[in-house]
Amino acid sequence: MEKFYITTAIDYVNAPPHIGHAYEKIASDVIFRHYRQRGIPGFFLIGTDEHGIKIQKTANEKDVTPQDFCDEIAAKFIKEWELLDIKYNRFIRTTENDHKRVVQHIFKTLTDKGDIYKASYTGLYCTGCECFLNERELDENGLCPDHKTKPQEIKEENYFFRLSRYKDRIKDHIKANPGFILPEYRASEVLNQLKNVEDISISRSKESVSWGIPVPGDDSQIIYVWIDALSNYLTGIGYLNNPELYEKFWSADCHMIGKDILKFHAIYWTAILMGMEIPLPKTIYAHGWITVDQSKMSKSLGNVIAPSTILDSFELKSPDSLRYFLITTTTFGNDGNYSDEDFKNKVNADLANNLGNLLNRSLSMLVKYFDGNIPAEGVTSSENNELAKLAEKTRQSVIESIDNYRLALAAESIISFVDSANKYINEQVPWTLAKNDETKIQCAQVLYNVLESLRHVSVLIYPYVPSIAQDMREQLGLEGKVCDILLDDLQWGELQPGKIASKDSIKPVFLRLDSELAGEKKKK
Ligand code: MSP
Repeated sequence: MEKFYITTAIDYVNAPPHIGHAYEKIASDVIFRHYRQRGIPGFFLIGTDEHGIKIQKTANEKDVTPQDFCDEIAAKFIKEWELLDIKYNRFIRTTENDHKRVVQHIFKTLTDKGDIYKASYTGLYCTGCECFLNERELDENGLCPDHKTKPQEIKEENYFFRLSRYKDRIKDHIKANPGFILPEYRASEVLNQLKNVEDISISRSKESVSWGIPVPGDDSQIIYVWIDALSNYLTGIGYLNNPELYEKFWSADCHMIGKDILKFHAIYWTAILMGMEIPLPKTIYAHGWITVDQSKMSKSLGNVIAPSTILDSFELKSPDSLRYFLITTTTFGNDGNYSDEDFKNKVNADLANNLGNLLNRSLSMLVKYFDGNIPAEGVTSSENNELAKLAEKTRQSVIESIDNYRLALAAESIISFVDSANKYINEQVPWTLAKNDETKIQCAQVLYNVLESLRHVSVLIYPYVPSIAQDMREQLGLEGKVCDILLDDLQWGELQPGKIASKDSIKPVFLRLDSELAGEKKKK
């Protein structure tokens, strides 16, 4: 792989960010950080989808201009992603000028090619989906199956995109490229949807939607949101505006999106790109949804949770544990659930009891028995070394898992390596070995094996828990940033003899949630 360009769905700004939006951004951040550790140049795009009826309506209800409203909510998204340590390259907003130019260019090119035509249309419009629905897509009560609302009947003159023209090519592409739609089982869902594909309306009259990008050459029509929204993936990487960036990174290696918007990506977007003769993305990954206490988040249920609310309520200074929990709560691709109880139990078990405790007790023993020094004779080689072998095996399985988008599995293999190191220390009983002069060196070797394993763990687990990983590195007495260590350079034996710890340098890397120590207030 020469480069890695990953995008996330751009979020609607009609409501503030919640943990469902966060899930997708964290997953992409984990993948992106991992590829950086592989030395692969990357670009990570994130942003907000700011046009359309929903946003226009919400702004009207609040008596503010749509632009002011978008500015306010986009700022909330940016703040939330900062809190969650999401390290993207660009935050794109569809109200930006370079984006308007791209959208109008796409519209014009497709019109010139004969892919866009004007026709009178009567259809059922769902504002939640921001799209027209077929009768057969509705549920038995005539409601939108996703939003449980009755779509509005609309009669208008609109511009249409000849989607039907691309049906066969899309089908062939999906069949010939098993990695194009992931998880693989979702490809058959798309192939089914393709059977019923018709041309789609891609504009609305200005009277019904004023908040959007005008059709070039026809100010009475506004470009309908999906064409506008999907094109962000091109604008974001410099299409028309920064040829060098565009040449380097297009096409997208991964469009990370939720399962609900797969059709728009796998069918609409693919057709637009085919029409534009622009190379297609390598993978469209449709992840599952996060529920809260087993219920879908909704305003009416009052169970919409912002990530910052969770961080506040547990008085967490770093987002690492929430990042870790969300990504490991379910097999990536499937639906997952958040509950306070599960969150607490999972991160206490994995990050505090397992990982944190191992680092803590092995460093404490190093201080107690060797005054925090790694003796030269304590340094071990990888030959016939159980933990060294396991470190290498874990490194390989993390790489393989992430290449296959198995994010929870990769984390599991790291924690299982920590488990093994914990078992190893219990079996080797270094506290007994320390008592005897003849076995003291053996004790140092046992501690070295565990600490060196933890150094590997800090690098492997870094994409999930960047602050904890850095903290681990510092406690191991190592300089530099954990994010700069390449997975290829992860060899056994980097920990050098000499003083690495003292009584004061040892701190828990993660405080148990709800423990006496957790949280400033409780500390006081
Ligand atoms: N604006 C469109 C996407 C346009 S992409 C060119 C949109 N926005 S959204 O705000 O409704 O959703 C943004 C992303 O968050 C989508 O990928 C969606 O699937 C995801 N999620 C929204 N709620 C979610 C959960 N409860 N759980 C996981 N992901 C969820 O769709």
